[in-house]
Amino acid sequence: MSNDLKDKVAIVTGAARGIGRIIARHLLEVGMSVVLADMNEQLLEKTNEELCEIGPTLQVQCDVTKEQDIELMVAATIGRFERIDALINNAGIGNPHCPDIAEMTAEFWNKIISTNLTGPMLCSKHATPALRHSQGSIVHIASVRAIQSESNNEAYSASKGGLISLTHAMANTLGKTGVRVNCISPGWILTEESTRRKDGRQWVPTEAHHASHPVGRVGVALDIANMVEYLISEKASFITGQNFVVDGGAVKKIFI
Ligand SMILES: NC(=O)c1ccc[n+]([C@@H]2O[C@H](COP(=O)([O-])OP(=O)(O)OC[C@H]3O[C@@H](n4cnc5c(N)ncnc54)[C@H](O)[C@@H]3O)[C@@H](O)[C@H]2O)c1
Repeated sequence: MSNDLKDKVAIVTGAARGIGRIIARHLLEVGMSVVLADMNEQLLEKTNEELCEIGPTLQVQCDVTKEQDIELMVAATIGRFERIDALINNAGIGNPHCPDIAEMTAEFWNKIISTNLTGPMLCSKHATPALRHSQGSIVHIASVRAIQSESNNEAYSASKGGLISLTHAMANTLGKTGVRVNCISPGWILTEESTRRKDGRQWVPTEAHHASHPVGRVGVALDIANMVEYLISEKASFITGQNFVVDGGAVKKIFI
């Protein structure tokens, strides 16, 4: 266990459910204080009730498309914990089916880009003064769809591809002030939400789904949380500007 994270402070956006909830839980388990930020107040309340049993939490309702919400989130974090050591930009709209490109509206496009790309940039902007002070780090959560896609993926793929570019650009700008910036591109990760069927029952992946991954299984949110823990720890002090694909090897498999 990396003890250099003990008593440090992380902000996790999109922490109310899914991958963000597990990242937040894991960082609490390794001894950090965690700010749980999400736009869904009801779900956030429920998640905070569960996670505050593990370690110090602060629940902040924040829509990452609204700069004023982000300013208040950062101020609330400093007010409660007096520092920020890690910002995990996880909040996102998951892979919506885009209209045919000939029918694409600016409204649809802008909604995805403003949540998945502009949101992380604005959160980074407001957390940067505190991160410079703590010599902290930022992790963006992108997707393998930044580097491979299927039809009707344009907005999501472009938003996540933008995050990978934002990562190396910010790493250059912030590196000289001691702040590292990295990105994780998850593959297929099972969450309570992604496995919930319309009838409320749980959907279970088939053997074929597991076998399509070189490691023999579909991912779980802890696979991403473990990588976050590593990237924000001292063990990763020589790593910045990188994108790490965490997908059980799936993008390296040829389908013939
Ligand atoms: N689950 C996967 O297989 C997978 C794969 C690749 C990448 N990802 C990425 O990982 C991240 C988390 O995915 P997930 O599957 O847990 O998603 P999810 O939909 O289960 O959870 C996303 C959380 O983000 C919050 N959110 C959405 N828009 C927001 C906004 N504007 N402001 C604040 N909070 C907002 C939601 O309320 C929700 O709690 C996303 O960025 C997603 O694109 C997921």
